[in-house]
Amino acid sequence: MAEPWAALRPGPDFLDILDQRVLPLTQRYLHCQSGDDVVEAISTLAVRGAPLIGLVSIYGLWLYALAADPEDMSKVLAAGADKLKRARPTAVNLAWAVDRAMAAVAAEDSRSVAAILFDLAEVVKIEDREQNLRIGNYGADFFSRPVSLLTHCNTGSLATAGYGTALGVIRTLHRRGQLKQVYVDETRPLFQGARLTAWELQQDSIAATVIPDSAAAFLISRGLVDAVVVGADRVAANGDSANKIGTLMLAIVAHHYGLPFVVAAPWTTVDLSLSRGDQIPIEERSETEVAEVLGHRILPEGVAAYNPAFDVTPASLITVIVTDRGAVRAPFAESLFRLKSN
Ligand code: MRU
Repeated sequence: MAEPWAALRPGPDFLDILDQRVLPLTQRYLHCQSGDDVVEAISTLAVRGAPLIGLVSIYGLWLYALAADPEDMSKVLAAGADKLKRARPTAVNLAWAVDRAMAAVAAEDSRSVAAILFDLAEVVKIEDREQNLRIGNYGADFFSRPVSLLTHCNTGSLATAGYGTALGVIRTLHRRGQLKQVYVDETRPLFQGARLTAWELQQDSIAATVIPDSAAAFLISRGLVDAVVVGADRVAANGDSANKIGTLMLAIVAHHYGLPFVVAAPWTTVDLSLSRGDQIPIEERSETEVAEVLGHRILPEGVAAYNPAFDVTPASLITVIVTDRGAVRAPFAESLFRLKSN
């Protein structure tokens, strides 16, 4: 998205959230006046993307704190933290941000709890943007010649505090004059690629072509794609990476045709406490999201749908994991561990 970044607009005692469910046809803000409003916005995907839901959860805690009686503060915050963490289980950035916020509150008693949380959100916003710029540079450095890329879902300014992770790599390549073409999977069932990534790239005047998810293997087989670049919601210690459903299929196809498969994510997405990807909790969402397109049912009445929101790409299919601390290759259990102290 062209600056100014507009996904979140905090006011004195509210948070306006750009409603990503209706973009790009409608641009409207959800007016969140309570922590519960923020939980609802996260769980309904009005706001989404791993780093952004981490950031928004800190504003959620801030709204809980603003409404709490001082004597109930700890209880209210603990309950709010629990609701926020449960709103979306796969993206570890959410739990990371909530834990960081709770630790910040526990560590200080000179300012009001609300002030501590609001200021922390501003800090995390700045940090996340800086991390994305670094990811963009490390990721672009991986390519030595102009490339055509394929990406999935939305990993840009609408998924982060600005610039983006996988989309940050694409933006940096474009700035360097090294981007020939970007193909964007429409990303069923909720069309984050078709609606959000295409919109962001259009605002940046980066030529993008949207394809049905099912066309990716065909394009790759015809040599139209040089590499696949995706984000992540959680990276286990061995490099297995959870991302939007459909990512695993891309990784398998990329591997079959010998293309680099690049995962770009901030360090806050790496979860060294999990040794393997099969330990990552996978969110399952309502079957309505599959049964309906833009509010219209397309399945015959009575037919079931299944809607896992994420899949896990095994480390063996990943060429490089690009973080703000550097880009690493297999064996990831060693290379990621080395980044821990960077
Ligand atoms: O369900 P979503 O839209 O929140 O899923 C988003 C993704 O899978 C992104 O690829 C991931 O969060 C990385 S965002 C920088």
